[in-house]
Amino acid sequence: MNQNRILSGIQPTGNLHLGNYLGAINNFVLLQKKFECFFMLADMHAITVNHDPDILRQNVLETASALIASGIDPDTNIIFVQSSVGAHAELAWIFNCIARIGWLNRMTQFKEKAGSNKEKASVGLYTYPVLMAADILMYKATHVPVGDDQKQHLELCRDIAIKFNNDFNAKDFFTMPEPIISEGISRVMSLRDGLKKMSKSEESDLSRINLTDDEDLIIKKIQKAKTDSEPIGPNIIAGTERPEARNLINIFSALTNKKVKEVVQEWEGKIFSDFKKELSALLIEKILPIGKEIKKFKSNKDFLIKILENGKMKANLVANKNLKEIKEIVGLA
Ligand code: TRP
Repeated sequence: MNQNRILSGIQPTGNLHLGNYLGAINNFVLLQKKFECFFMLADMHAITVNHDPDILRQNVLETASALIASGIDPDTNIIFVQSSVGAHAELAWIFNCIARIGWLNRMTQFKEKAGSNKEKASVGLYTYPVLMAADILMYKATHVPVGDDQKQHLELCRDIAIKFNNDFNAKDFFTMPEPIISEGISRVMSLRDGLKKMSKSEESDLSRINLTDDEDLIIKKIQKAKTDSEPIGPNIIAGTERPEARNLINIFSALTNKKVKEVVQEWEGKIFSDFKKELSALLIEKILPIGKEIKKFKSNKDFLIKILENGKMKANLVANKNLKEIKEIVGLA
């Protein structure tokens, strides 16, 4: 049974950028060939922090359009919105009663997101990893592509699965989901500061390549991207002193599917201005067609809505069947 099933979630955001693409979406595109894939737009995770309802609705559609524009085939994969499958919330409640407070207290992402004022964080933000476990185990996913920041949450998901199987004497009911750590980059950094993640909230638009940027903008942003005056060399990989250089090399390597080491060898001794020209060309080749598709979808919402409706139906079929069994095991049915 589902030997190779992937569930992955992506939080809906507007203004998707190269970090979203290389960090997550591009991996999904590659994985769809090998796995049965459920790609979920995690709108319920998005409301764990303050949000605007209209913008959330808009972002769900925009993120769906980015997935499809990037090459995820909506006919062979299931693309759906988390809140359109009610079973996620139900299972999350059951898992809230399985997970221990001590486990959640160790989650570093909560500490980071809650910041200095933990008392004011939503309870939802605290129990966010439990909902994520429900997303994954709902479909008995065998594999989950995760970035650095979600590894600990996947560990928690596995702990929940183990405890559930033990507590209810349901040996092997939940299979242990394995992480898929992509060979590419898990973090694209800001073009202005190699120690900060590329982010849509950084003030300067020069810090990121948006998926909808045009050719001139891409060239300009890469030209202006921070580097150092040294030529390209192995100390970019070995040391930590050249984070901006490392970031550009990483991006280049991800776009060409070459190892970082290979890229450095190829360009060893050369200066960054030449490298940047090539990098811009690569980005233009990759990003421009995606941006064009995303813009097209903006005027064809009905098409997107239809895809999500279809995904909702297919996801509900699997989720409801599994939830029924789970409720029986727990004594809720
Ligand atoms: N929390 C993930 C993120 O912010 C998104 C997500 C929600 C997810 N549910 C998931 C990822 C299940 C993988 C599996 O990136």
